[in-house]
Formats: sequence, C-alpha cells, structure tokens
Amino acid sequence: MAQFDVIIIGAGPGGYVSAIRCAQLGLNTAVVEGRDTLGGTCLNVGCIPSKAMLNATHQLHEAHVNFEKMGLMGVKPKVDWERMLRYKDDVVTGNTKGIEFLFKKNKVTWLKGWGSIPEAGKVKVGDDTHSAKNIVIATGSEASILPGITLDEEVIVTSTGALTLPKIPKSMVVIGAGVIGLEMGSVYARLGAEVTVVEYLDAITPGMDAEVAKSFQRILAKQGLKFVLGAAVQVVERTKKGAKVAWKLRKNDAAGEVEADVVLVATGRKPYTSGLGLEALGVEMGPRGTIKTDDHFRTNINGLYAIGDAIAGPMLAHKAEDEGMAVAEIMAGKHGHVNYGVIPGVVYTTPEVASVGATEEQLKEQGRAYKVGKFSFMGNARAKAVFQAEGFVKILADKETDRILGAHIIGPAAGDLIHEVCVAMEFGASAQDLALTCHAHPTYSEAVREAALACGDGPIHA
Ligand code: NAI
Repeated sequence: MAQFDVIIIGAGPGGYVSAIRCAQLGLNTAVVEGRDTLGGTCLNVGCIPSKAMLNATHQLHEAHVNFEKMGLMGVKPKVDWERMLRYKDDVVTGNTKGIEFLFKKNKVTWLKGWGSIPEAGKVKVGDDTHSAKNIVIATGSEASILPGITLDEEVIVTSTGALTLPKIPKSMVVIGAGVIGLEMGSVYARLGAEVTVVEYLDAITPGMDAEVAKSFQRILAKQGLKFVLGAAVQVVERTKKGAKVAWKLRKNDAAGEVEADVVLVATGRKPYTSGLGLEALGVEMGPRGTIKTDDHFRTNINGLYAIGDAIAGPMLAHKAEDEGMAVAEIMAGKHGHVNYGVIPGVVYTTPEVASVGATEEQLKEQGRAYKVGKFSFMGNARAKAVFQAEGFVKILADKETDRILGAHIIGPAAGDLIHEVCVAMEFGASAQDLALTCHAHPTYSEAVREAALACGDGPIHA
C-alpha cells in the first residue's frame, strides 16, 4: 500500500494530461490504468488510429483521383490491408509509448490494473489498496448501443471493431451520422466500400451549424456516401452475407432495409463508470450516467474529483485534457479554469469540418443581433492549387460590437485554421481584429481573414 497526493483513475487524454500536470506542480501522482498501454480510447482505439486510417485512405484517393491531374503518371496504388493496419498499429504504439516515456520523465507512477474506490481517499487496484489525498475519476466513455443490437465486433461493430476488420468490406451500413460514423464511413468509402449512413434525425452531425452540415452532406454524397435521414432503426441482425439493417422513416412510417458486409453502430457514447463503486460511495450522479461535479470538478465526496467524458459537456479528448490540467491546478491550490465557450470541434474527413463558439441557429434562438461573414475556398489560390476549393469559412460576429461569437469552417486544414479564431475569441477579439491581421499568402488561413473582412467592408477575392 502506497500513499500518494493524487491518484487518477484512467490514463486517457484527461487522466494522463492531468497526471503530468500534477507531477509538474510537485504532487506525488499515480495513475491507475487496466489496459496494457496508456492513452485510453483516444490513443488506442479512437482519435489516433482513425487519423492514421483517414490519412492512408486520403493518400490513396489523391493517388487515384488527383495525381494524373498534376502530371504524376504511373501505376495506381493497390491496398495491402494488412500493411495498412500495421501502419495504424505502429502509429498507436509510437504514441502510447510516448506517454509511458512522459510518465517516467515526470515520475508519475503507473498502477497497472482496474481501480475502484472502496472508501473516500482509497483506491483499490487488484489486491492492493492505496491512499491519496485526492482522487480524480477520468474513466472516459464507452459506445452507447441501441437496445436490441448484439455486437460481435466482427460484422456488427463499434468504432473499435471498425479499426480492425479482417478485410475491407464491399458494403457497410453506418448507423448514426455523427463524427465517428462519418469519419469511419469515409475511410471505407475511399477503400471502395458502398457506404450507407442511416440517421435518426433529418440532418447529419447534430449540433453543427446547419449551413455547414448541409454543405458537408452534399460533399460526402459526391464522394459516394449514401444517406437515409429521418430513419428510426428497427432491426439489426446477422445474415448469411453479413448483416441487415431495417428502418422506418419517421415522417411516414415507410419501411426500408439494406444488407451489408459490416454494420458500424455509431450512435453516441456514454460515461464509463461501472466497477468504480460509485453507488456504494454515495457519489451523486447527473443526467445520462454522468458524474455530477461543481465548476471545480469536485463531486459531492470530499477529495474526489471527476473530469472528461465521465462528466457533463462535449465528449472530446481536448476538453478532457483541459479539464485534466485545470483540476491539477485546483488540487495544487492554483486557479485552474476551462473556458467552455471556446472549445473547438473537428471532423477529420476530407474536407475537414471545424467549429467553435455559437452556431447561427443558437444565435437566432438567443435572439441575438449578429452578422455573418462568409468566404468560399473557391477564392483561395492555395486551396485551388491542391484541388480542395470546396467549402467555406463562416464567421459570426455581434452586430453592434463586431465581437466574434463563432466560426464554422469546411475546407482544407479546417481543423488547424479554427485555432486562430479560438485564440481571437479567447482575447475577446472583433472580426475586424482578425481582418486587420496580416495573413501570409498563399495560405488557407487567408480564407479566415477574408471571412472576417466579409463581416466588415467586404472580402477582396469574392
Ligand atoms: P455522435 O453523438 O457524434 O453522433 C451519433 C449520431 O447517431 C447522431 O447523429 C444521432 O442522431 C444518431 N443516432 C442516435 N440514435 C440513433 C438511431 N437509433 N438510429 C439512427 N441514428 C441514431 O456520436 P458518435 O459519432 O458515436 O461519437 C461519439 C462521441 O465521440 C461523440 O461525442 C463525438 O464527439 C466523439 N468523437 C469525436 C471525434 C472528433 O472529435 N473528431 C471523433 C470521434 C468521436
């Protein structure tokens, strides 16, 4: 039995980042992790491996579709599936090992095994019970599956199974047009699978600015993804060929079905807190299985904190990381804080989609007077040079003060471009502040500036 200042349960982006910050702030820190590798869902079976697959298949698409346009002639690459999966696994290993290195460097102890909290201030891992002044729950989330669906992770899969399929499916049904469904759906569409996305709502990517979501759907449809919207899934069952998904359209009860080699269930995630002993401990819970916390990440139990997907808010790795750093600072007697108004969201398809702050729908709902500055990548020389001129930047600013309220980008490197708007928003900048900032030419980021100009006297290249 050992005594620590802090024990963090879970080594995902929330937990491992928090541990490193705790150690940097002089706290004797341990992390409990039951997986064989550090990094949680994000590094092992989520963000990182999916980005490897998105990269590989994007390159494949470039080689097949755009190389000859640039005078790059020759044999079109074929996919060696085993090697592609190995590349993805190597990317994961490189990153998980990197965290092991950071733990050693910062003297963070890894307690291997699954943890539970038998009483306040105690964490049990295997047969050992450790003490800590403070405990942080950073146990993340798990896939939320529709009732009646039996997963086998071979034919009816979550994102985890979708990253290790034994062969490239000829057809795939994706249930849920959220981030996972569209990212993995576009990976397999680029690999030649016929992909049908079945979504309960009438639009894809709920919560996204509607104009961007509409344009996103049109672009994905051009890439070959089929969409069935407003469809309530009734049955998902195994067949000889693979599996069948049957639905009823919500508007008129019309029935439809499709059979495919693989069905990916991507209908959201829910907090993963089972086995921790929270009920016996009397931890107060919030809606949808979340752990209830105050704005300092404190639960109702003294010395017990929670962060990341296990608490309220968007289930995003970077939100968990920020909370991990903030809670470390709070436990060290400093003033940790997360600005929830400026958390970017990114979908890593091609083109990428990124957003921060309010959507136009939210501003309308708030009855706020706003203006819209839009600029198409068609007017951006750099985007045209790389055949990525589809999409646009949209900046929303207060009508009176010109303060930036939100930004929504669909286009090349949108996931990177969004951060200049994030920084601007953190500083309370106006659209004019962005517009008056010199942007290097030729870069994609000029499109952000042009959208900011469009909030004022108008863009130049439109
Ligand atoms: P999601 O919440 O993004 O999307 C789930 C979709 O499934 C929604 O469009 C919802 O309307 C639909 N749906 C729910 N029930 C349905 C039903 N019965 N029939 C048809 N459609 C149904 O969830 P997703 O994509 O599973 O991702 C889980 C979490 O992981 C999200 O919070 C997401 O933000 C996060 N994530 C983030 C990524 C990123 O930042 N790039 C990548 C992957 C996941």
